[in-house]
Amino acid sequence: MTLPESLIEEVTSADVFVVTFSKGAKGAPWTEDDAAVFGPAVRPLRIVLHPDRTEAFTDRQSFTKPVEDLRTTLERLTLLGFRQAHVRLQTKDVQVLSSQHRTTVRTLPPSTVFWETSHDHKKRHLISVEADRKLLDVLGMTTSDGLLRTSMSDKFRQINHLVKMLVADVDDLGETLHVVDLGCGKAYLSLALAWVLTRRGRSVSLLGVDVNPHVVAEAQRMAWELGLPDARFVVSTIKDSDLGRPDLVLALHACDTASDDALVAAVRSQAQRLVVAPCCHHAVQRQLSASQVSPELRPLLSDGITRERLGDIITDTIRRDVVRAFGYDAHLEEFIALEHTAKNIVLRARLTSFVTNPAIPETVVQSMKLWHVRPVVVDALLGTTSAPAVS
Ligand SMILES: C[S@@+](CC[C@H](N)C(=O)[O-])C[C@H]1O[C@@H](n2cnc3c(N)ncnc32)[C@H](O)[C@@H]1O
Repeated sequence: MTLPESLIEEVTSADVFVVTFSKGAKGAPWTEDDAAVFGPAVRPLRIVLHPDRTEAFTDRQSFTKPVEDLRTTLERLTLLGFRQAHVRLQTKDVQVLSSQHRTTVRTLPPSTVFWETSHDHKKRHLISVEADRKLLDVLGMTTSDGLLRTSMSDKFRQINHLVKMLVADVDDLGETLHVVDLGCGKAYLSLALAWVLTRRGRSVSLLGVDVNPHVVAEAQRMAWELGLPDARFVVSTIKDSDLGRPDLVLALHACDTASDDALVAAVRSQAQRLVVAPCCHHAVQRQLSASQVSPELRPLLSDGITRERLGDIITDTIRRDVVRAFGYDAHLEEFIALEHTAKNIVLRARLTSFVTNPAIPETVVQSMKLWHVRPVVVDALLGTTSAPAVS
């Protein structure tokens, strides 16, 4: 096939691009040079060129080799007998179709592919599109060309950041880890974590819990596809689940008081590490009322958005202090920039020395009095008699 010279020029001078060659007759003819790298038996059905590498796909496998001279590689790929080239640039897509008699070139709007920028590369993600193709493929985060879907770019950043945090959190624990994911959904995070830890030689048993049977079945299927035999997913409420003795309990965006249930379950099972990123905080937001607080605090509650944010902060700081009372070193942190998700706070805790029957912390008592609220976690972990009542 022939690529217009102007297009070759655009590709070779672009920072990011992807060119997919497909529709070869019986798989592309294979040069000696390619055979030396990938093996003579490989007959690719599709070849994808990136600025730094070429990926050859058969119906079962993919092979990657680095690109040394971009122009030469691109020109050589046009000689392999493929009939279609799909060029993705940041500003447009170009489709080139070659038949025996003619070549048609169609320019299209840019397709929905997330471009990893040089900034992303510099950050050295723990999970990368190149090294963790299988993981991202099974999680449904990539296209058939192995490119990250735009719709998944926030999830990708979130998972990368959280997995990095979790790997650091369990670094000083034993070789064998029991990880529990509460309100796991499709378990993108815990599967990615188990994948990365296994790759690093740790032995991971993973338990995922969710009330929704569809997501549980999907998570279990993905675990099998990823070759994680020690990953088990169960349909259950968090309250009714048996966590065993977890090294790490995580709960990412478990709805409303399900985050409280996760904290309760984690503390009761004396989990070594907790990572809980709450979602909506309706329970405390509903209790907050301007008429119940002292006059100087009322302006903070007169608009919906400030009441909502305040509700989040009050809930999370009380949760943190309750967890601290049980002997955890606990902090609230931002786990990803606000532009990616408004629910970007994580409660991160490590057990130092478990306290069996702690008194209700004074900070919690004061906060509940001040705001006239009573978060679920207080009653569930510290008992109903110790907390001031909320009407
Ligand atoms: C927003 S999704 C988050 C899923 C996943 N953790 C993630 O971040 O991709 C919340 C999940 O929590 C589950 N869930 C909510 N309340 C629950 C409860 N009380 N017990 C178990 N699962 C619960 C829902 O079924 C849903 O799958």
